[in-house]
Order: sequence, then structure tokens, then C-alpha cells
Amino acid sequence: MDFCEVIEGTTRFFVPMQDPSSAFPPGTARIFFNRRMELSRDATILLASVLPVSNYLDAMGATGARGLRMAHECGIPVTINDRNAEAVALIRRNASHAGVTPEICEADVNCLLSTRKFDAVDIDPFGTPAPFIDSAARGTGRYLMVTATDTAPLCGAHKKAGMRRYFSSALNNEYHAETGLRVLLGFLVREIAKYDRGIEPLFCFAREHFVRLHVRLLYGAERADRSMARMGYVMQCPICPSRTEQAGMLPLSGQCRECGTPLVPIGPLWTGEIQDMQLLDSMAAVIGDLRLGTGPDLAKLIAICRQELPLSSHYEYHRLAKRWGVSPPPLEEVISSLRDEGFSGSRAHYSGTALKTDAPLDEIRKSFFAR
Ligand SMILES: C[S@@+](CC[C@H](N)C(=O)[O-])C[C@H]1O[C@@H](n2cnc3c(N)ncnc32)[C@H](O)[C@@H]1O
Ligand SMILES: [Zn+2]
Repeated sequence: MDFCEVIEGTTRFFVPMQDPSSAFPPGTARIFFNRRMELSRDATILLASVLPVSNYLDAMGATGARGLRMAHECGIPVTINDRNAEAVALIRRNASHAGVTPEICEADVNCLLSTRKFDAVDIDPFGTPAPFIDSAARGTGRYLMVTATDTAPLCGAHKKAGMRRYFSSALNNEYHAETGLRVLLGFLVREIAKYDRGIEPLFCFAREHFVRLHVRLLYGAERADRSMARMGYVMQCPICPSRTEQAGMLPLSGQCRECGTPLVPIGPLWTGEIQDMQLLDSMAAVIGDLRLGTGPDLAKLIAICRQELPLSSHYEYHRLAKRWGVSPPPLEEVISSLRDEGFSGSRAHYSGTALKTDAPLDEIRKSFFAR
């Protein structure tokens, strides 16, 4: 295998040469590395720089990129694991190249997390993290970080796979990215609640082809119950844009308040907050001090997340404009006229044309004609 050097943040490491003519270059090398996940890695470095993380497990290291960066840029004691011997050899070489001394393991992540506990655990698999969340629930002290790239099952494009992996029914509609993020959070809640622990989302986002979650785990049955109480459904009308949120693990039937059609339940999913606003404020305050390759994009993402409403769905405002036969007014104007009427309104971090609001449809409609 040939290698080339990559610099992310302030950390240097080697990654295998890839075939750039392939549709998915990371798939062409025996050790995985995806340059396009730099923002996801930068996000975790930034979060760790404002949290008191005492040690960190990069449970699925591949080149070791995440763990090497955490050791080098945050000065945190790190363990890097991969079950692939070739990856482990590269992690060793990369650790000495980066001038850090992590503990390096060659184990199946489920074995490792069944016998040891780490303050922060990062699960960054190919595709679905579902097979690793039970052991992560046992092997994580305070911070669990999870990537999912199987957006088709999470977002309702592959419904049967979504049900098998996440015990949840998604709908592949305009807000499927939000649904995918919340289906995965809801799955975490249920995997963790059985150990009498709850979650507090810290910094969670959906982007391009992946979902990235950073959550705090809390001890106690009462904390678990509090998390379970945030489980629920989005009840979507299959005919018109109307929908409502409903609490509880079991979907109740209901009819659309606009057109009377029976509603379709999406879930169970997490209906609570997906960000810790104080942490986002701290991250925004220090991001300028860190050397992050995706710093400007990450700063934009954080800025939108700081004002985004914690609603479980959004409206595509172009689609609403078409429905109402009006050219789409600037989204900021729609949001401000909804606010003038006493409703909440915001953008969503994963789409430039998403409108989040607690206003009913007829009030949204009025805001489109308010100019
Ligand atoms: C998507 S890659 C990790 C990418 C890396 N974290 C990064 O940021 O570049 C997933 C890695 O998980 C490893 N892996 C898959 N299943 C595993 C398991 N059950 N236990 C340990 N490692 C596993 C694979 O060998 C692969 O190197
Ligand atoms: Zn309807």
C-alpha cells in the first residue's frame, strides 16, 4: 500500500493512496479515510476543547485520524482501536509521526466496550452504528459520539432496513434529514435507558450523507425516564403539509386538522432538544482560536444551530409557495412576520430552504402574503 500525508487541524498523519477516478475514492483502499468527513472531525475537536473530557476512545480508528487529533490538539489521554491489523499498524506509525503516545488496541469494539469504560467514546463505523450502541451504552462514562452514514434506512428510503436497525418507521419526505437524526437519537435513548441511564444531546447535526451525534450520558432511572418522556412521533398528513408532534412510545391514530385524512406516524423518534445552547455558545467563542480546516463552515453550522427551533420537522418553503401560487418571499421575511404574529420561526441547519415554525398552516400562509 502507498501512503500520502494529510494535515488536519494541526495534526499530520498518513492515509492510503486512493483511486481519485472512483465514484467513492475511500472505498478503493484497504484502510478507510474520507477527506469529506473533516468537518465532522473538526466538530468533535471543537466540542472536546470546551468539555472536561478526561479520556477518549476512538473505537473505530482506521488511520487513527480522530484519536490522533484528539491527543495532539486537545492533549487528552487517548485510546485508539481497530479490529483490522493493517489499520492498527498504520495507527502505530501515525502516532509516532504525530508525536503522540495513545494506547493502541486491536479488538472488536463490542468486546472492548464490554470490558472497559472510557469517559468519551467515539463510534465511527461504516454505515450503521446500530450493532455497537449497546456495548457503547455500557462502556461510556459521560460522552458518547456517534456517526451514521446509512441515511437511506434512517431517513425512510429503505423502510425495512430502518425498522430492523432502529425499530422505527421513517418517511422519505422533505424533512427526512431531521427525521434520520431523531430516529438515531431515539434509538440511542432506548439502548441506553435499559441500563437506567438517560441522554442529553450536546451537539447533533445532519449533513450531506451522514448524521453526527454528541450526547452526554446521565446516570439514574429518573434520568432515563426523563429521556424516554421525550420520545414521540411526528404525525404527518399524507395528502397535505400539515403535521403535529405527539408524545409517547405508541402512536395514537389521528386525523389531519386541515383535510381530515388519517395521519401517518413517523417514529418513534426523539422529540426533544438536539443542542446544548450553552456549549454551542462556548464553541462559537473559541472557534477562532483553533486551527480547523473547516472552521468557517463549522462556524456557520453552529450559528444556525444556535437559533434553530427544537422542532422535529420543517416545511419546505418553496413547496408551500408553489402550493399557494405565490413566488417564494425571502425566508427571513416569512420568519419575521411569523414572529410579529407571536409565533416562533427559524431556519434548519441542514437545508437552506427549510422553515421551522410552531405556527399552524393558515398562519404560515398569511405570512407568505404579508409583504
Ligand atoms: C469508517 S472507518 C473509521 C474512520 C475513522 N474514524 C476516520 O475518522 O477516518 C470504520 C473502521 O471501523 C473498523 N471496524 C469495523 N467493525 C469493527 C469492529 N466490530 N470492531 C472494531 N473495529 C471495527 C474498520 O476496520 C474501519 O477501519
Ligand atoms: Zn391534510
